[in-house]
Amino acid sequence: MEVRITVNAINYTIDVDQETSLLYVIRNHLNLTGTKNGCSQGHCGACTVVLNGKAVKSCLLKPKKYNNAQITTIEGIQHGLMLHPIQEAFILKNAVQCGFCTPGFIMELFALFLKEPKADKQQIEKTLEGHLCRCTGYLPILEAALLAQRLIQGK
Ligand code: FES
Ligand code: FES
Repeated sequence: MEVRITVNAINYTIDVDQETSLLYVIRNHLNLTGTKNGCSQGHCGACTVVLNGKAVKSCLLKPKKYNNAQITTIEGIQHGLMLHPIQEAFILKNAVQCGFCTPGFIMELFALFLKEPKADKQQIEKTLEGHLCRCTGYLPILEAALLAQRLIQGK
């Protein structure tokens, strides 16, 4: 079947079969390899992108769910050479080690702060529950999220 999607403000029409995941389209058709494939089963969060304003695990989405959708991936959040404040905060708080999980965490937070700019610490922790990181112990990621929130608000 043919699907139309807009990814990072660029329109695409792509031929896929009924089982082709959004993750596969992003990585293999569009060569946007910032979005990672950790488990292909919805358990790790590495494949998270923002679809119509919501964070989704792209490995689980089949064409009917992403046809005609507006999608943002990690490649789409910076402005020119300027990193997004969430990316900046991850660097400042040493929340990136191997980096495999990082795009997923960042896109989850990107969607959260779009909807709930003043999300409290508990909401942030709850939102990040579906993401696994093998390297950081999670604390630097939480600190990065809190810093990112302040940077976005200009504080
Ligand atoms: S690759 Fe999608 S949740 Fe792990
Ligand atoms: S930084 Fe390595 S898995 Fe999270």
